[in-house]
Amino acid sequence: MAEDLSIVQGTKEEKYKSVIPQIKALVEGEPDLVANLANIVAALMEQFGWLWIGFYLVKENQLVLAPFQGPVACTRIRKGKGVCGTSWEKAQTIIVPDVEKFPGHIACSSKSRSEIVVPIIRDGKVMGVLDVDSEALAAFNEIDKQFLEEIVDCIIFE
Ligand code: SME
Repeated sequence: MAEDLSIVQGTKEEKYKSVIPQIKALVEGEPDLVANLANIVAALMEQFGWLWIGFYLVKENQLVLAPFQGPVACTRIRKGKGVCGTSWEKAQTIIVPDVEKFPGHIACSSKSRSEIVVPIIRDGKVMGVLDVDSEALAAFNEIDKQFLEEIVDCIIFE
C-alpha cells in the first residue's frame, strides 16, 4: 500500500481509530523493520502533528535513535536514564504530564512540555521504545497509552 493517508478531525480516540487500520495496512506484508517504523511515525505525525515522535531500538545495551519525525534528537540513551531509559528498565509505559517534574528527563528539545514513552516488548524482552513529545502540558493520557501500545504490538521483529 502506498497512497495518501486519510486524516480526520475529531477526538483523540477518533483519530487513533482512523489511523490504526491504515498503519496496519502499511506494515502488513512488509518484513523490513526500518521501513515499517518509518511509516508508523510518518502516519502518526501526519494525523496528530505532535512536536516529535520516534523510535529508539535496544542495541548493545543502549537505546539507539531509529526512525523519527521532528527536530534532531539525542542518539543514545542508557538503561534507566531519562523517560525512555526508565520505560525500558521498568518495561512499562510512562506518561509524563510535565517534563520539568520528571527527575532525569533528557531534554532533546526545549519546546517539549509533556511526553509518553511506550516499550516494545517481545517474549518478555524490551526491543525498543516509542517516544512521543508534545509542546503542550499534559498532552497524553490513558487513551494514548492504550492505542500506542496497540500500535507497537503490530511491529514485526524478524
Ligand atoms: N525526553 C527523552 C529523550 C528523547 S527525546 O525526547 C526525543 C527522555 O527523557 O528519555
